[in-house]
Amino acid sequence: MPTIESILNETRVFPPSKEFASKANLPSFHAYQTLCAEAEQNYLNFWAKRAQEQIVWHKPFTQVLNDQEAPFFQWFSDGVLNVSYNCLDRHLETQADKVAIIFESDEGEVIRSTYHDLHQRVCKLANALKSQNIKKGDRVVIYMPMRIEAVVAMQACARIGAIHSVVFGGFSAKSLHERIHDADAVAVITADEQVRGGKRNPLKSIVDEALSMADAISVRLVVVYQRTGTDIRFNPVRDVWWHELTENISSQCEPEWVDAEHPLFTLYTSGSTGKPKGVQHSSAGYLLGTKESMQWIFDYKPTDVFWCTADVGWITGHSYVAYGPLAMGATQVIFEGIPTYPNAGRFWEIIQKHKVTTFYTAPTAIRSLIKLGADLPQQYELSSLRLLGSVGEPINPEAWMWFYEKVGQSRCPIVDTWWQTETGSHMIAPAPGAVALKPGSCAFPLPGIFAAIVDETGHDVENGKGGFLVIKKPFPSQVRTLWRDPERFKKTYFPENMGHGKYYLAGDSAYRDADGYFWIMGRTDDVLNVSGHRLGTMEIESALVAHPLVAEAAVVGKPHEIKGESVIAFVVLKGQYPQGEEIAQITDTLREWVAKEIGPIAKPEEVRFGENLPKTRSGKIMRRLLRTLAKGEEITQDISTLENPAILEQLKYPSK
Ligand code: WT7
Repeated sequence: MPTIESILNETRVFPPSKEFASKANLPSFHAYQTLCAEAEQNYLNFWAKRAQEQIVWHKPFTQVLNDQEAPFFQWFSDGVLNVSYNCLDRHLETQADKVAIIFESDEGEVIRSTYHDLHQRVCKLANALKSQNIKKGDRVVIYMPMRIEAVVAMQACARIGAIHSVVFGGFSAKSLHERIHDADAVAVITADEQVRGGKRNPLKSIVDEALSMADAISVRLVVVYQRTGTDIRFNPVRDVWWHELTENISSQCEPEWVDAEHPLFTLYTSGSTGKPKGVQHSSAGYLLGTKESMQWIFDYKPTDVFWCTADVGWITGHSYVAYGPLAMGATQVIFEGIPTYPNAGRFWEIIQKHKVTTFYTAPTAIRSLIKLGADLPQQYELSSLRLLGSVGEPINPEAWMWFYEKVGQSRCPIVDTWWQTETGSHMIAPAPGAVALKPGSCAFPLPGIFAAIVDETGHDVENGKGGFLVIKKPFPSQVRTLWRDPERFKKTYFPENMGHGKYYLAGDSAYRDADGYFWIMGRTDDVLNVSGHRLGTMEIESALVAHPLVAEAAVVGKPHEIKGESVIAFVVLKGQYPQGEEIAQITDTLREWVAKEIGPIAKPEEVRFGENLPKTRSGKIMRRLLRTLAKGEEITQDISTLENPAILEQLKYPSK
């Protein structure tokens, strides 16, 4: 495995500068260790103390952790709070006029919203939703562009205790429908169109299409934010304009006080079956995780201008756009567009213009910006930056060094943050004033997070050896269950062979080096990571076999210079093996089909046709062979169990 080797050879170490450490929230390795020791000695007190300090409780909790029904853990369960109150109201007395959001549109228009303004917008929408009889516990799907309104929609749901489920604007009508249906959503909040990189995406008509499919009867309200003013179809019984619904409505809205364990949201993510999982998060524990990580890892300071580039359609955009920064009372940038429009200097221009101090993005974006303009950052004034962050996939040391030198001008630490949709907040990441950085390593677990690497029987492996990444003790921000699928939750994350069903199994392989640093190697399940987005191979396979031409399909990942991984599909057609022009035609058809079934991010980079797939005698597809073929490598593995070795020749090269 070449990636592991190149990482193993990485010996550069970057200790925190005195300058940075002296002002940091965790100013030394000793300070970090002291917190870890505190958590080790009295785990429950450690979290109880933090939950008391960080959260404004409507009614304080008396019980810290309830593990009676493990792994369905409950944290602070007799406490009562409201997350939106914690993100907005609590700042009104001290900093109502502080800018909460600096919004920049695709075209470059800038809108600033203060805490006072944001509070009013959220209250108005919350009242509007209530006027439409949306109640605590109802599910609301949000399918929105990256604008202030997306955050307002999420916060308004939180305010009335409705459970939001944000669907990324790049997902197709079919994927949207699947999520609406699984959640039994009563309402959808969307926009007429989304504008990214100068292109328009007709969100409302995609919603219409999703709602016209069978079994979408639960939705009785569609709130439409007017982004472009384009003509849309309007169903007077079901559809309402956001601006009309919130006109002449009170800007005061008493929050709905909910139990600590009340679900704040569900977010669908891919797993190793064809059906996405509805990851369900709590209110208090989730909020606590985002706040602690804002302070320990992002070293949050009230003077910061924080910018996380993730879309609210992903967990990163939940924890570090919609909730964490607001809970801290931060000023943050929200950007509607893409890094390369109108040119590859857009990110640097935004950092310069808004004097961003903390910049959090994904390795795939960094790699594409290196490719399109490695020297561009030096044309901008980036001296406001003090901290950089990376998330979504392992960052290769080359990209790390470029980010460090060209963007951070060798002044700014990079926090490489390992976490997942399921963990809600950072799990393994360097506290930047305390921990010396190694390019490509996410360093150490946060205080109170008992991460370890174990073998298939759940026993610790020694440093230097690869194994399964687990978290041995429950933690406040973890996934509570999978929406309407508690069995799958238990089986996927708490298998019996791992600490007798007590360890949280992340689904990643990793190892620790001689200094104890964690290095993530990749997924151990059938999940791909394409441009930092999680895609299930099974999901793409089911989409492919749903096409009338396709008899069978197998999907694997192939290393990709910019995307990290790309999707390669091996396909057996129902009819004849395609010839000549047919190959390109059917390839196009299938790629478009996948884009339509799931979304453009899932489009296969390459489609290879075969008369069959490599299978064992019992009929199981041998994916590891397909992975080798996709990479263009010679097969050196044992193929004695392979039923049809001749097929390997046919699948060896892209079909011609
Ligand atoms: C998977 C989770 C949570 C943020 C966005 C992705 C991979 C995430 C890192 C990192 C190496 C990483 C893992 C993980 N991953 N961050 N810093 N280093 N790998 O969330 O879609 O739930 O995917 O992303 O494989 O399991 P997600």
